[in-house]
Parts: sequence; C-alpha cells; structure tokens
Amino acid sequence: MLVNSCDTFFLIIKGDKFINLKVSSINMKFFNYGRYSEDYSKLKITKTYYLAFRDIPQILHKLVNGKKALDYGCGTGRSTRFLKKLGFEVIGVDINEKMLEKAKRLDKEGCYSHIKSANLDLFENNFFDLIFCAFIFDSIPSKIDMIKILKEFRKKLKSKGAIIIITSTPELYFHNWASFISNFPENKNTRAGDKVRIHIKGTNIKVFDYLWYDGDYKSVFQKSNLRVIKGYKPLANGTEKYKWINEKKIPPWFVYVLNKQHYDTYQTENNV
Ligand SMILES: C[S@@+](CC[C@H](N)C(=O)[O-])C[C@H]1O[C@@H](n2cnc3c(N)ncnc32)[C@H](O)[C@@H]1O
Repeated sequence: MLVNSCDTFFLIIKGDKFINLKVSSINMKFFNYGRYSEDYSKLKITKTYYLAFRDIPQILHKLVNGKKALDYGCGTGRSTRFLKKLGFEVIGVDINEKMLEKAKRLDKEGCYSHIKSANLDLFENNFFDLIFCAFIFDSIPSKIDMIKILKEFRKKLKSKGAIIIITSTPELYFHNWASFISNFPENKNTRAGDKVRIHIKGTNIKVFDYLWYDGDYKSVFQKSNLRVIKGYKPLANGTEKYKWINEKKIPPWFVYVLNKQHYDTYQTENNV
C-alpha cells in the first residue's frame, strides 16, 4: 500500500483500520518484547534513558528540516510520543503487536503500524525527513539484518533527511547503571555478536541483547551507503537530578546521525 502524504497515512491507519494493517506474526529471530509490554509501557525517559534523549532536541533543530518522521521499533510508543512533543508528524512501526497495542492505548490519536523487520512497503520512497530508531540495533542479531533495515531506511528517507540511531555501547553490559543491572559474570567473556544479559531496574524486564561495537555499526553504515554526520556518546555532567552510578565517566549509549550522502570518516565524541 502506498501513501501520498502523512495526512493520508493518518486516515488509513486510524480506528478499526489499524487492525487491518496487521501483517503475519513476529519473526522469532528477534527478541519477543511482548511479554514485557505492560512493564515497558510504564518506562519513562528518566535516569540512564534521559541521557540517551538529552541532546536529541538540539540535534533535530540543527540537522533535520521538515516534520515527517518514522519511529522505527517504536515499542510502546515512548520514543514516538517524545517526537510528537517536539512537533513531528510521527508514525511508529514495530514487529510486535502487543507493544503496539500499548502504544495505541497510551496515545489514542497516534499513528502506529505493525510491520515485518526491514519492510517499510507501507510508505513511498523518499517520504521521511527523519527516521528515528531508539534501542533497536542492540537487539538485532546479525549485521546482515542491520544492513537490510538500513537499506530500507535509505530508500524511505528524503534526499536531505536524517536518520538518528540510539543504541547501547558495549560498556552498557559490563557495568551497572541508574536504570540497569548488567554486570553479570556471563557478559564478561563476550565478543561482538554475542548475547548479553540486561535487567531494567524496578521492572520485571530481563532481556538478552547483542553486543556490538562502534566499528560494527560503522561497517554496516558504510555497507548501506549511509554517512555518519555525527557520532557521539553522551555522558552525565553531574547537574542532573539523578543519582548516577557510572554515567558521569562511562558512556552507556551511542548516538549516530546519518544521511544519504556518501560515507565519510567521523570522530566519536563524548558530548555534542
Ligand atoms: C527496547 S524497545 C524500544 C522501544 C522504543 N523505541 C523506546 O524508546 O521505548 C525495542 C523495540 O524494538 C522492536 N524491534 C526489535 N527488533 C525489531 C526489528 N527488526 N524491526 C522493528 N522493530 C523491532 C521490539 O519489538 C521492541 O518493541
């Protein structure tokens, strides 16, 4: 199904028709977040998560023109509602229907759709000004799957659009944090592509992610013909209201901003 504008898309997806846009069941290759959807729907952008989103408004202001946004892997809609508050016309997509049901419950007027991994056939090519992707790439099991997703992003992004990817640093799995317990002994002897364990504090959410390094991400961006225009690792500065554990000295997140220009070298910094 092709859509001509975001408005058309909103009409298509509203109300009962949302249900009609379901596609076949989850590809079990990817972790099934459904059983944690209730807990996930209560998570806020606070503590360690706050750091991941802290600089995004400034980045969007500087680097993104236009308001049409896709939130890829929207889960229960936390990141989608964040973009909406910043004034974007945003559509959240995810492979998990249970997560999407919660997103819809929390944002009744919102636009959410079920997809298969790396399949954005719902949208025309060159459609989005921004493709946002928060906490997805650390749950992707292989570089081949990442490249499939990134190539689809490239197709659906306008020529001057930007992609923002927030994902875990390897350090996230070797230390403890205000929001996570993750220094499990079995995480220690892991290599790129291995499963790593992480628990979200104050919830029942206990998941396995995949360990990927900056170099792994760089290589998949390059193979997908995407250029990193900004890559950095936010650190807390101590003025925040949270009781940090390692966040002032060890960065838990990578933030990458990509565009469709040819790949170039870049520096990873700690702050914007
Ligand atoms: C950790 S949640 C993040 C949700 C949201 N972005 C947020 O910031 O709260 C990860 C979500 O990614 C979805 N996901 C995992 N693999 C995916 C894939 N290959 N394609 C699309 N979504 C995927 C999961 O179903 C889950 O809802």
